[in-house]
Amino acid sequence: MKQNIHFSGIDPELPPPAEEPDRQLYFAAKCRQWADAFTKRCGRRPTACIRTFGCQMNSRDSEKLLGVLKQIGYEETDDEQADFVLYNTCTVRENANKRVYGRLGYLNAAKKKKPDMIIALCGCMMQEAQVVEKIRSSYRFVDIVFGTHNIFQLAELLWRRLSEGKMVVDVWEGTDRIVEDLPAERKYPFKSGVNIMFGCNNFCSYCIVPYVRGRERSRRPEDIIAEVRRLAADGVAEVMLLGQNVNSYGKTLDTPVTFAELLKQVDAVEGIKRIRFMTSHPKDLSDELIEVMASSSKICRHLHLPVQSGSSRILKQMNRHYTKEQYLELVERIRRAIPDISLTTDIIVGFPGETEEDFLETMDVVERVRYDSAFTFIYSKRTGTPAAEMPGQVPENVVKDRFDRLLRRVQEISSEVCGRDVHTVQKVLAEEPDDHLAGYLTGRMDNNTIVHFPGDESLIGSIVDVYLEESRGFYYMGKLAESRDE
Ligand code: SAH
Ligand code: SF4
Ligand code: F3S
Repeated sequence: MKQNIHFSGIDPELPPPAEEPDRQLYFAAKCRQWADAFTKRCGRRPTACIRTFGCQMNSRDSEKLLGVLKQIGYEETDDEQADFVLYNTCTVRENANKRVYGRLGYLNAAKKKKPDMIIALCGCMMQEAQVVEKIRSSYRFVDIVFGTHNIFQLAELLWRRLSEGKMVVDVWEGTDRIVEDLPAERKYPFKSGVNIMFGCNNFCSYCIVPYVRGRERSRRPEDIIAEVRRLAADGVAEVMLLGQNVNSYGKTLDTPVTFAELLKQVDAVEGIKRIRFMTSHPKDLSDELIEVMASSSKICRHLHLPVQSGSSRILKQMNRHYTKEQYLELVERIRRAIPDISLTTDIIVGFPGETEEDFLETMDVVERVRYDSAFTFIYSKRTGTPAAEMPGQVPENVVKDRFDRLLRRVQEISSEVCGRDVHTVQKVLAEEPDDHLAGYLTGRMDNNTIVHFPGDESLIGSIVDVYLEESRGFYYMGKLAESRDE
């Protein structure tokens, strides 16, 4: 696919062009010469392994990074003993951070046995100055460090490492640019994430994302639609539109466009059968969006609507710009327009100053909304965010107790809610061979619920009718129904 891209018009002997993406193509061509020499010398192509931590933004970034590595001539591997190992990191909670440091120790040992190995770190963690300092001083075996704003520069940074022979650190504080037309190597042939915006301007008081991903920038609708068309032509049936707060899409464009308008345009692209998006901030979810969702047959009946807390007092402290009542009213409006919608959420337990009463308000929202599923998080203090300075940090044992109670209830409700379609026929996108059952496939319903059913691998990537025989709490066991969509 993309790795066979021709470097025509690019002369690696000339000085580098200033314009992007030509500049990166130039450095990719230079790295390619190195990779070809490697192949000749070693009798095999160099291998690359990317580990992705964090959210779908990072997963999509990793597909772009892999696209560049393949263009250079690397062969992808899942093995961390590879010639090039890249960690695309997350720092949303302290745990994500710790995991990376833990694994770096392991990479150090691997590199001792294989000194030519190149180790690179990128992503959200690298946007934190103290992290980069620590890497510089205590993790000298790392070769390349870059951030979230310059992932498009991978080829150039790799070339610098190859030619300079020492640690390359290039982290930008911020950016207002969006570089289009980079190659991307999709994980799945039939579905793809599509960035519609980058960064976040919301500054929820607990959250580090606006600091590490920068200010909100929307891609132009014509660039997005061109990408979706290309994907459709390439056999993609499902797109997931990605942004930290998709509901504020387009506000900063020269010619403002609403997210609902963008959805209509994506809906009109032939070949695309399913449209998903993430994440919706409740404060910006418009009636126009609800209408577009209700009237589209392609937009999936699923909304991820993070509530974070059920206490209006805590929500104010979190800088979320809605109250418990406004959130519940929004849920009601959505359910009235789209009765079969599946709702999921994110909840933080133990935000500074959270009392038992505040927590019970969160439990109350869970009881009332009855989410299909909820991601529950223990509040994690992030240096530099306003909440880190707030009084009343909740003791660990209290948080743990609340977390356990919440999780139990979320799971009970989820297993009741998720089984509602049992004994019906549903459209399922067949996604991959089942991990556990030979001859079975795993797929997803429109509302994102997982279904396992016997089927041939040739069905992967198509939408099939599946009779849901049995609900097993969070997923179904089913069998192919008679008629098929395509
Ligand atoms: N932009 C998305 C979420 C991005 S982060 C949104 O606004 O919904 C994903 C989730 O991580 C958040 O929804 C929140 O629940 C959780 N999170 C963010 N910062 C956190 C922190 N400091 N501690 C615990 N959970 C956090
Ligand atoms: Fe973080 Fe809030 Fe932005 Fe989501 S909307 S990324 S929680 S600041
Ligand atoms: Fe993590 Fe960055 Fe996503 S901090 S959650 S990978 S935006």
